[in-house]
Amino acid sequence: MNLMMPLLRRSVSSLLMVAAISPFTACAQTPAAPVATKKPVVVVVATGGTIAGAGASSANSATYQAAKVPVDKLIAGLPELADVAEVRGQQAFQIASESFTNEKLVALGKQVSALVKDPSVNGVVITHGTDTLEETSFFLNLVIRSDKPIVVVGSMRPGTALSADGALNLYDAVSLAASPSARGKGVLVMMNDDILSGRDVAKRVNIKTNAFGSQWGPLGMMVERRAYWFRAPVKRQTTKSEFDIDTITTLPEVAIVYGSGNMGTLGVEAATKAGVKAIVHAGTGNGSVPDYGVEGLKAARAAGIQIIRSSRIADGFVLRNSEQPDDKYDWVVAHDLNPQKAKILAALALTKATSSADLQRMFWEY
Ligand code: DGL
Repeated sequence: MNLMMPLLRRSVSSLLMVAAISPFTACAQTPAAPVATKKPVVVVVATGGTIAGAGASSANSATYQAAKVPVDKLIAGLPELADVAEVRGQQAFQIASESFTNEKLVALGKQVSALVKDPSVNGVVITHGTDTLEETSFFLNLVIRSDKPIVVVGSMRPGTALSADGALNLYDAVSLAASPSARGKGVLVMMNDDILSGRDVAKRVNIKTNAFGSQWGPLGMMVERRAYWFRAPVKRQTTKSEFDIDTITTLPEVAIVYGSGNMGTLGVEAATKAGVKAIVHAGTGNGSVPDYGVEGLKAARAAGIQIIRSSRIADGFVLRNSEQPDDKYDWVVAHDLNPQKAKILAALALTKATSSADLQRMFWEY
């Protein structure tokens, strides 16, 4: 038997195969000229933080100055972004995020709201310090009336450090903001490959690149420009919210009093004297209040200050009428919101809510 036959047959058949798929095969009509697809437009609004930070040497992963690199240099330093979208930059602030104020929060909200109203803009990325990133993302999730992708991103190491995380975080954030699948999922946070809900996210580690998470888990992951989704938010947000940044000028003052053993009454007394509109009591355990602290909170309530029981514990949620008779004292519980996010919602809610019952409704719904 001629051993060459099978080899010959295989080579003939493979030749035909090549002919069948070769781009140079003569075909009836001329292939259409490739149509240049217009890239999505993503605007990067920079506020500062470590993602714009710089250290003295590459060995400085934790010792550096935040808020140094301007937005145009952040974008220019990542030429890969041009493969993803037409990227434009706006410098909102250049600050470390622990220095955010209510005024800056409202101004940023109005800047983002104006951008998402622009029909030529497909998505917005906000570069931000990580310290108060969760507060800004929750706030924007409550006040921006749009289903366009809005992605908040930061980094735990400055771009000058070995194994800096900012470049990939920013690349992923722009890719996510350019993704149609990210529409309608509320404000998102892009950190360390994870896509997190702007509502649920919290900074849970203060010095590692896997700093961000949520007790309810991420919404999905970003891998090589593609978003992989595994769940969607269920709480009211963005287009379903009753809050609208365009109707907000200032936010009422809200204080957080941190619970501990032997916490005393100074915090509540000082907040009451300062005339805040609400006190978030970050209690121990399930939002516990020491027996010697109840009267001070009742007096604050009697003075018209809303009392919101939250917990210093990261996970779980505060149960109404469990540790304290909230119905009897006319107090509110923060549900699963940590004290700093309870403060954001309380401040916004107090621009609308007049009763503690309405305030409590908002803590159940958002
Ligand atoms: N100062 C902190 C801030 O701007 C640095 C932390 C960071 O951005 O990662 O939030």
